[in-house]
Amino acid sequence: MLKFIHITDTHLVEEGQVLYGLDPCLRLSQCVDSILHDHSDAALCVVTGDLAHVGHRDAYRQLAVQLHRLPMPVLPILGNHDSRGNFKEHFPRVPTDVNGFVQYVAPIGQYRGIFLDTNEPRVSHGVLCEQRAQWLKERLAEDEQPVLLFMHHPAFHVGIPSMDCISLLDAGPFQRAIEAEKHRIKHLFFGHIHRPIFGSWHGIPFSTLRGTNHQVALRLDDCMKVPGSHEPPQYGVVLLDEGIVTVHLHDFLDASERFWL
Ligand SMILES: [Fe+2]
Repeated sequence: MLKFIHITDTHLVEEGQVLYGLDPCLRLSQCVDSILHDHSDAALCVVTGDLAHVGHRDAYRQLAVQLHRLPMPVLPILGNHDSRGNFKEHFPRVPTDVNGFVQYVAPIGQYRGIFLDTNEPRVSHGVLCEQRAQWLKERLAEDEQPVLLFMHHPAFHVGIPSMDCISLLDAGPFQRAIEAEKHRIKHLFFGHIHRPIFGSWHGIPFSTLRGTNHQVALRLDDCMKVPGSHEPPQYGVVLLDEGIVTVHLHDFLDASERFWL
C-alpha cells in the first residue's frame, strides 16, 4: 500500500496580504501541520496548480518555505493563476520538458505519474497545445506501466457553467494524445474547480477537491459569474495498491467532536 497527498489551489499572495478575507499562507501552513500530524508517512505530495494567486515571486517563496516542511518529495504543477517564470525561480529542481513546460514523469509505487502543464499566460482557461500533447503521447508510449495523470484544468465539463467555460479550451490535442493508451490511465487528478467532484470520463476515473483557501459554491444554473464560498478547505489522501486507487478527502480544519460509534 502506498499513500500520497493531493493538495490543490493554494492561491498564495504576497506576505501580509489577504485573499477573500483569508490568509492563504496561514491556510497552507495549517494544511501542512495536519499532514505532518496525521500523514507524515505519505510517500509524496502532489500540488495541482494555482500555487499563487497572481504569480507573485513572494508567493512562491512562501510556498517553498511551507512545502519544505514536509518530509516527503513534493511534486507541483502549474494552474492558470501561476507564473511559469516566477515558479521556476523558486522551484529550479522541478523538471521541465524540452520546450520549457513544467511537465514531467515521476514513479508512484507501481504506477507512473505523468504531470502536465496547462498554464497559458494571461488567460483563465487551460491549454494543452500540440507540443505539450506530443510530449504526453511520447511518455505514454514509453512503457506499459499503469498511469496516474495530474493536471490543473479538467479536459471536460463538470456541470458548473462559470467554470466549464474556463476548462481546457480545446481538449482535442489531449484526447488524441491519450487515445491509444487511455486504458492504462487508472486515475486523473485535477484542481481548478475548488470543489470535491468524482466521476469518470471516457472510462477514466477522476477526482478533484477543494482548495486550501477559498472555494467555488455548487451552482449548476446558467450563472456565468464564479460563485465563491468559504466551505471547509481539504486535502486528499490517496491510497494505492495493486489494481486499486482510493481517494479520501480530509477537511483539515474541521474541529467537530470525535466519538466512538
Ligand atoms: Fe484555483
